[in-house]
Amino acid sequence: MYNITILYGAVRNGRLSIRAARAVERSLQATGKAQVTFIDIKDYNLPVMEDRLKDMKEPHPGAEAISKTLWHADGIVLVTPEYNNSYSGALKNAVDYFTKEWYRKPIGIVTASDGVQGGLNASNLMQLLVLAIDAYASPNKLLVPEVHKNLDEHGVPQTEKMKGAIESFVKDYLWLVEAITKQKKSNPLF
Ligand SMILES: Cc1cc2nc3c(=O)[nH]c(=O)nc-3n(C[C@H](O)[C@H](O)[C@H](O)COP(=O)(O)O)c2cc1C
Repeated sequence: MYNITILYGAVRNGRLSIRAARAVERSLQATGKAQVTFIDIKDYNLPVMEDRLKDMKEPHPGAEAISKTLWHADGIVLVTPEYNNSYSGALKNAVDYFTKEWYRKPIGIVTASDGVQGGLNASNLMQLLVLAIDAYASPNKLLVPEVHKNLDEHGVPQTEKMKGAIESFVKDYLWLVEAITKQKKSNPLF
């Protein structure tokens, strides 16, 4: 059983991309191989980052709580809508708080949009972000186009194509999680 944390990073009223996060949560749970923790950034009221958590004189309790969960995760799935050709500011703000929490972790990239591209631009930029935080991006990203049509409010896929894309993403992602977890056990980083 792997500890997987989903970090969902949109706080917009009426946000639809939460469906993509729920879809991945459901699919990971259905494998029976993952213990999933869902972090919704909206619940934590993180201020705009002025100091990384490790440098904060008075650590923000929300940032501390997220840190603990990320630290214990074998893998993290980052989920974002595409805003102005990129990932959401809220997700990036949260990511910037943390350092060692990401180190050499397998990261799943999930993007969603209401258009047909599924957040392709955001997903490409997420790959660069994952490199910057010293982690490994799973090459099979999940892009959810027309999120309002392809997933219902519980994250249940509405087409066979969407169902297949989610399952393929999860299968490849858990393969990477397993590979990295095994390697860390036999050859620890710290
Ligand atoms: C500020 C803003 C910028 C957006 N920019 C894009 C964009 O660049 N590309 C795109 O496909 N959709 C864009 N959208 C539409 C989102 O894809 C759409 O809102 C979708 O439902 C996912 O975002 P949500 O979780 O906020 O609902 C934008 C939406 C907002 C609010």
